[in-house]
Amino acid sequence: MSFLLPLLISLLLGLLLWILRGRTRKPGEPPLVKGWIPFVGKALDFGKDAHKFLEEHKREYGDVFTVRIAGKYMTFIMDPLLYPSIIKQGRQLDFHEFTNKVAPLTFGYPPVLRTAFPGLWEQIKRSFQLLQGDHLAPLTESMMGNLMLVFRQDHLNGESDWRRGSLYEFCCSVMFEATFLTIYGRPATGVRHGGMDRLMNDFHKFDNMFPFLIAQIPIWLLGRTLAVRQKLISYFLPQHMAQWTNTSQFIQRRAELFEQHDELKDVDKAAHHFAILWASVGNTLPATFWAAYFLVSQVEALKVVRQEIVDVLRDSGVDFSNSSDIMLSKEQLDKLVFLESAINESLRLSSASMNIRVAQEDFSLRLDSDRSVGVRKGDIIALYPQSLHLDPEVYDDPQTFRFDRFVQDGRGKTDFSKDGQKLSYFLMPFGSGSSMCPGRYFAINEIKQFVCLLLLYFDLQLEDGQNRPGLDPSRAGLGILLPSSDIRFRYRLRSV
Ligand code: HEM
Repeated sequence: MSFLLPLLISLLLGLLLWILRGRTRKPGEPPLVKGWIPFVGKALDFGKDAHKFLEEHKREYGDVFTVRIAGKYMTFIMDPLLYPSIIKQGRQLDFHEFTNKVAPLTFGYPPVLRTAFPGLWEQIKRSFQLLQGDHLAPLTESMMGNLMLVFRQDHLNGESDWRRGSLYEFCCSVMFEATFLTIYGRPATGVRHGGMDRLMNDFHKFDNMFPFLIAQIPIWLLGRTLAVRQKLISYFLPQHMAQWTNTSQFIQRRAELFEQHDELKDVDKAAHHFAILWASVGNTLPATFWAAYFLVSQVEALKVVRQEIVDVLRDSGVDFSNSSDIMLSKEQLDKLVFLESAINESLRLSSASMNIRVAQEDFSLRLDSDRSVGVRKGDIIALYPQSLHLDPEVYDDPQTFRFDRFVQDGRGKTDFSKDGQKLSYFLMPFGSGSSMCPGRYFAINEIKQFVCLLLLYFDLQLEDGQNRPGLDPSRAGLGILLPSSDIRFRYRLRSV
């Protein structure tokens, strides 16, 4: 007995160490980087600066390598010429396994399992079409009216003196409310919901905790986040939403779908609607800021883009004057190639979303005509397009904002290459393949509309002595990065 106990303990310790040490590389698998901390692996280094981490590992291990991050094995594909083979690989690589697990925990609704809610997942997917195609024109028209309403009432009230503001705060307050009105509709009485500031503040509190929730940190460990989330969700309870008018077809359709599933409680339906609030403004607010900031910070870019907007209006018989409201249709917005290029360029510089697929079985992943690597069931295959967006071989002088980088011969430029080969994917702020953001066309249109109003109605200047704001890395992998600090600016009504 006296020698059996130590033997048992050392056997158990050995087993535990073996489990914590993780797996070893098999022939045919990519180089494996485990880090020295059991389970955690390289999570801390990755979290500190994902772009730098991946670039350093690419230099050491080549274009494809596997990293242990918080118990998961993630295989990064760094060469953008290999992206098509990952994006088109549907059968063995699944995107939704990941979101179906993480989104319910983050937003607080029950997992949309096929067994518990037959057909709901497919119906939700189909509802995304109501953000695109023929449905885009009415959405865009409604957004224009709502932006004009908020601009007119809050910022166009006659004074022609310089006013001071903080640019991120300005962009957020206008875009949050106008997007909310467009997607969810107007209150039963009046044209604007009361308490939008409070709702947006709560949204920001939740949003600050978003990276922790996505990392599956239990919400009860995150201070008041649970209470804040409950407050946000309660805003969307069916009895409140039933009173709203002009609600988008997209949200109406989703509300109808949820009604068909008796198993969903009212609070679950509200949580689904809340998730759409995050999807519709979580990235759009910082993306709007970056587009506005870069344009205001470059006098030449601002001049060209403003002139383009004035010309498109004039071509349709409208001479702009600051006393009248303007309306820009989807067709007019499509003609704004320099503005679209400036927005794309700001997305290139600010987006850091990770495209994730989960291997459904052990298999050999074909990378190109003469290369394959072994991956194991449950492994994550990841694309990190920020590396592509900042690759000097693809984008000359990649840290510089060039408003016309995406214009060629008066049209949108799509011709970008690496190693002399044309890239199928060169700008990926909206993800890729079957999981690509369904709100992307609406998002670009609403940012265009916002910038049009800003440039048409106001003279704009950044206050002196401020550096280009940094990118707050806390959201790396999750979408558009927030500015690490706000920017002070001055604006006054233009005399036209
Ligand atoms: C600049 C603004 C936006 C950016 C950068 C953005 C980016 C993204 C990204 C990266 C994804 C995940 C795709 C993937 O992993 O492959 C996504 C998903 C999604 N986005 Fe957006 N988005 C934006 C605006 C919007 C807007 C305005 C809406 C709706 C009105 C929206 C609705 C959605 C929805 C519903 C999904 C989930 C799709 C699914 O589950 O298949 N997004 N977005």
